[in-house]
Amino acid sequence: MRVLGIESSCDETGVAIYDTEKGLLGQALFSQIDMHARYGGVVPELASRDHVRRVLPLIRQVMDEAQTGAEQLDGVAYTAGPGLAGALLVGAGVARSLAFGWGIPAVAVHHMEGHLLAPLLEDEAPDFPFVALLVSGGHSLLLDARGLGDYAIIGESVDDAAGEAFDKAAKMMGLGYPGGPRIAALAQQGNPGRFRFPRPMTDRPGLDMSFSGLKTFTLNTINDLGGAEALSEQDRADVARAFEDAAVDTLVIKCRRAVEQTGHRRLVMAGGVSANGTLRERLASQMDKRGVRVFYPAPQYCTDNGAMIAFAGALRLQAGEQAALPIEVRARWPL
Ligand code: KG4
Ligand code: ZN
Repeated sequence: MRVLGIESSCDETGVAIYDTEKGLLGQALFSQIDMHARYGGVVPELASRDHVRRVLPLIRQVMDEAQTGAEQLDGVAYTAGPGLAGALLVGAGVARSLAFGWGIPAVAVHHMEGHLLAPLLEDEAPDFPFVALLVSGGHSLLLDARGLGDYAIIGESVDDAAGEAFDKAAKMMGLGYPGGPRIAALAQQGNPGRFRFPRPMTDRPGLDMSFSGLKTFTLNTINDLGGAEALSEQDRADVARAFEDAAVDTLVIKCRRAVEQTGHRRLVMAGGVSANGTLRERLASQMDKRGVRVFYPAPQYCTDNGAMIAFAGALRLQAGEQAALPIEVRARWPL
């Protein structure tokens, strides 16, 4: 089975073709980051318009790369939510229209299921069941993944998502958007002993998380130093280091508990924040000690992309699913 996948939930237009026998045959990604950077975050209306501009040329490019004509495709998968409604509608409208015109099924994919399944694109793919840590700009979730479509949420953020906290802390330091990679890079030069930020919600049992307190702590620390403009390069690096240490430790502690609670021997990490090198290192060393294997996607599949949507769509189509005719998206959609 060969499936075209389209991702347009936020600020990247991603397109890919996945073949269940041969793997990924082609893919392309256009990131709007430069366009949104001057506004300090994603501007929804600009995002939708840019998806309109990019999506068809990208589809043509990927079909050429994959040497695949419409007659060789068995389905079109698209991100139907959660995300920005206008942006989602672009991908959904194009996907459904192409599928209708080509006379093949369309399948609506949950964006977070796309992230969750991305590690299965790797050669060494985890089998179910596993614990999944999904950490992106919009979500922080711990899941007990028992099988395809059988996911129980065992922990989630009660306020900001982990990536959102990285982005907001970066903005406070004047680092620009997206904040995660910039904080991570600066933290390398940071002194780990200068500031200590709290590890929220780790002093009581449970798997829920909270990241908005870290944001406040960051702001107070910056203000104590005289405000963002007064920060030296070393101050910035030290604050970034304290923030990253606290966010990473919190996630690692919650993962440790999730593994103990479920008894699973595999842990999958996905979503934009899973690209964070410190998080990968600390999680791997903690899980190693417990005999738990950690899986994550290749860096290009951690953040939004079309490959994860084509892949999740192929699995769903194989399971006999397809979307009803109306073009519908869900800006909010529980997994
Ligand atoms: O999955 P994603 O591309 O989009 C959403 O679905 O949200 O995740 C984007 C998020 C942003 O908040 C970004 O700052 C964060 O992932 N991120 C990182 C890193 N790379 C991206 N956070 C921490 N460290 C990184 N290296
Ligand atoms: Zn995402």
